[in-house]
Amino acid sequence: MNAEFNACPRLRREGGRLRLDGAALDDIAHQFGTPVYVYSRAGIEDNWRRIDAAFGARDRLVCYAVKACSNIAVLDVLARLGSGFDIVSGGELERVLKAGGDPAKVVFSGVGKQMWEIERALRAGIGCFNVESAAELAQIEQAAGDLNRAAPVAVRVNPDVDANTHPYIATGLRDGKFGVGIDEAEALYDEIQRSPLLEARGVDCHIGSQVTDIAPYREALQSTVALADRLARRGVGIEHLDIGGGFGIAYADAGPPPVEDYIAAVVDAVGARPYRIITEPGRAVAGSAGLLLTSVLHRKRNGGADFAVVDAAMNDLLRPALYQARHDIVAVRRRGGETRAFNVVGPVCESGDTLGRAHLADARRGDLLAILSAGAYGFSMAGNYNSRTRPAEVIVDGGEAHLVRLRESIQDLIEGECLLP
Ligand code: LLP
Repeated sequence: MNAEFNACPRLRREGGRLRLDGAALDDIAHQFGTPVYVYSRAGIEDNWRRIDAAFGARDRLVCYAVKACSNIAVLDVLARLGSGFDIVSGGELERVLKAGGDPAKVVFSGVGKQMWEIERALRAGIGCFNVESAAELAQIEQAAGDLNRAAPVAVRVNPDVDANTHPYIATGLRDGKFGVGIDEAEALYDEIQRSPLLEARGVDCHIGSQVTDIAPYREALQSTVALADRLARRGVGIEHLDIGGGFGIAYADAGPPPVEDYIAAVVDAVGARPYRIITEPGRAVAGSAGLLLTSVLHRKRNGGADFAVVDAAMNDLLRPALYQARHDIVAVRRRGGETRAFNVVGPVCESGDTLGRAHLADARRGDLLAILSAGAYGFSMAGNYNSRTRPAEVIVDGGEAHLVRLRESIQDLIEGECLLP
């Protein structure tokens, strides 16, 4: 593949034009306007299949983490591959069902599930609730009683490992809000065993996101597998180990190991134990398969720095502002001449509204820039700050671009609001 775009392997420069799976990005910008998220169907499929295939003969279920990119067309593409789904809300469940996902392959994570969400998930027949506290377990049991339907559960344990990622996306530390301490988990499994309304299905953990090192997985699995062994000795028959997601991908400042290496470490740690392995990758499926296309509005120079003011902003792609994430930004059509660094900034009234830096020969009104590795936690974290409408979403499938989400209109923006009487 093209080494220029390590962060987005399906991108190529041909005859001066940047193409994603054969579709020219300038054509997409003209057809659908900017800012626009563009995803490669083949990229999403390849990423999912690589993860799935890395398990070899091992029994496994790859449950795509819907939060990474939740457009129903993306979920449909994955459902057709046989993917399971990791959800964290009733909204995500409805998306999965709408996209034709199999509820039996859904795992429901999250620290604050509401009663209506639990009931809806039980009625839909989801595969497993990943339970994050004793209080939540009691709530699930109550819902199961009300609906007269046993609830499949796994306890999310907190293995207390440092995933060495940005603190906002590290979730495996003891003092965080996630999961229950590994030493408290056995008591919860006792509760589950006692209840005719609860069925122990597995043990769950998730250590964080954009983890670029394999060691934290090894460490987390050591204690998680040891817990599973203790449970087995106590006669708690679990079926699966859910190792969560978190596999890192390439950004401007990250070159993580190939996803196969993470999976090999996991498979090795589980060894000959008979458990099905569940994983919940989001970023590793959607991240490199998507980009955000934006147009330059103005060029300006302030205090010796060059700025390209573009029509995308922090409300469209929050990661740089929130995590100081560094996405590669490239010109869709390169201009001749020496390049220099431009700060690529959006129109929002905050200094933090910076999308990154790009090396460009110039930045003139109408020039198109592609912000790479934006398929995960891009649109799904977009908002309406500054009353900006959220971008359109497009999927390239076999060289053809399809609109899969209309750009929000001003009418959409104020829909549901009203004046005082
Ligand atoms: N499973 C659970 C329980 C999770 O909380 C997450 C992500 C995943 C799976 C998927 O993780 P992934 O494979 O995508 O790393 N907004 C941040 C990332 C937040 C991740 C939250 N949880 C970002 O833009 O970097």
